[in-house]
Amino acid sequence: MDKVLVAAARGLHGTLTVPGDKSISHRSIMFGALAKGTTIIDHFLFSDDCRRTLAAFQALGVPITVDGERVTITGVGFAGLKAPQQALDLGNSGTSTRLLLGLFSKQPFPIGFFGDASLSKRPMKRVIAPLSQMGAKIQATDTDFLPLTIATNTTLQPVEMTIPVASAQVKSALIFAALQANGTSKLTELAQTRDHTERMLRQFGGEIDKNGLTLTIKPQSQFVAQKFRVPGDMSSAAFFALAATLVPNSQLRLAQVGLNNTRTGFLDVLSRMGADFRVEDVDSKTVEASGDVIVTSSKLKATTVHGAEIANVIDEIPLIALAATQAEGVTEISDAAELRVKETDRIETVATELRKLGANIETKPDGMIIHGPTPLRAVTSDRVDSHGDHRIGLMLAVAALLSKSQLTLTDAAAINVSYPNFFTDLEQVLD
Ligand code: S3P
Repeated sequence: MDKVLVAAARGLHGTLTVPGDKSISHRSIMFGALAKGTTIIDHFLFSDDCRRTLAAFQALGVPITVDGERVTITGVGFAGLKAPQQALDLGNSGTSTRLLLGLFSKQPFPIGFFGDASLSKRPMKRVIAPLSQMGAKIQATDTDFLPLTIATNTTLQPVEMTIPVASAQVKSALIFAALQANGTSKLTELAQTRDHTERMLRQFGGEIDKNGLTLTIKPQSQFVAQKFRVPGDMSSAAFFALAATLVPNSQLRLAQVGLNNTRTGFLDVLSRMGADFRVEDVDSKTVEASGDVIVTSSKLKATTVHGAEIANVIDEIPLIALAATQAEGVTEISDAAELRVKETDRIETVATELRKLGANIETKPDGMIIHGPTPLRAVTSDRVDSHGDHRIGLMLAVAALLSKSQLTLTDAAAINVSYPNFFTDLEQVLD
C-alpha cells in the first residue's frame, strides 16, 4: 500500500490522546492470563503486534473478549494453558516471540512459533541460550531463528546471570521462566531497560526484588486479576512531539502519555536539543505514571546520545536522527548497534531514507553522525519506503511534514504494527 504524505505542514494544534502503550498492552494479556480471576484492561493497543499476543493466548485456551478498547481476560494460570491446535503466527512481533518463549518454556505440550520475513531474521539465541541453561528445550532454525518449537518440558532450574544484552525482552523472558523455576534466580542487567514486566508482576500481587541492576525472583504462580487503563505510548507520542517541535507555529497537547522513567529518554534528548515542552497533570499514584505533554515549536541544536541512555531511547532513535537533521551542529549517536537487529537494520534504513530527502548522515557500526540543519525535500526520490518497519514509516511521515515536496510512502501498512490510527490522528491536529 502506498500513501501520499502531507507535505509542508503549516502547524499542529489541539489535543491528542495517543494509543495505549505497546509494551504494557502485551504484558497485560500475559499477566491477565496467568492471574486468578477476571482482568479488565482499558485503552488496550489494538495493533497488529498486540493482537498476536492476544491470539496466542486464545489459541492456548484462555478466554479473552474484546469490547472497543477494553479487553477482558479470564485467567487460567501457568498450569491451565492448553495445547494449541497449530503453530502460533507471531507476525512481526519480537516482543510476543521473546516474552512467550520464557512464559511457555515449561509446558506439558510442544508449541510452535513462526513469523513474517522480518521476524524470521531476528536473533532469538539471546533468549534461547539462557532459557536452555535453565532447562528449556527449544529447537530453532539454525539454533537462532523462527520457525521454532518449544518442546514439552517439566522442570526449569533457577539461574544467576548477567544478561549479555541490554534488552527488556530478554530480561522479561527470563523473569517469566524464573517464576516457574525450582529455586531463586538472580538476573543482572548491563543497563536499566524498560521495567514494565517488573512493575506489572508486583501489580498482579507477585514479588520481585530489585537491587541496583540485579533482580531476585522466587518461584511463584499465584497472581491476582487487575483492572487498569494502559497509559498512552511514549514511543507513539514521540512522533507527534517531534512533529510539533519541528513544524513552525505548532502547539499540541499529548494527553495521558506514559511517563515511566525507563521510557522518557526521548524527552530528555529533546530537552537537551532545546525543545520547548512541559509536562502537566501528572498521575504518579498508578503503577505506571502518566501525564500530558504540551509541545510548542522551537529551533533545535545538536546533541550526543550514547551509553546507558541508549536503552531508554532505543525505539526513538529514528526520530532523534530526524530531529538531528533539523538541528544546528553535529549530532552523534553511539553504542546503538542493537538498532541493526530491530524490525529492520534501523541504522541503514534511517540513513537510506533520510538521505533521499537531502539529509547528511554518516553511519557507524554502532550509530550515526548527523550534520544539521538541512532542509528536507525530494532530492534523489519522492518515494520513501518504510522497508516494512513501522517506526521507519512513522518517522518518514513526520519528515514529510517538513518537506517542501510531496512524498509518497511505500509499504505504508507497516505502521499498523504499533500505530494503526496514525494518519487519522494526524489529520485531527493539522491546521
Ligand atoms: C520492548 C523492548 C525493546 C523495544 C521493543 C519493545 C518490550 O526491545 O525495542 O519495541 O516491550 O520489552 P529490546 O528490549 O529487545 O531492546
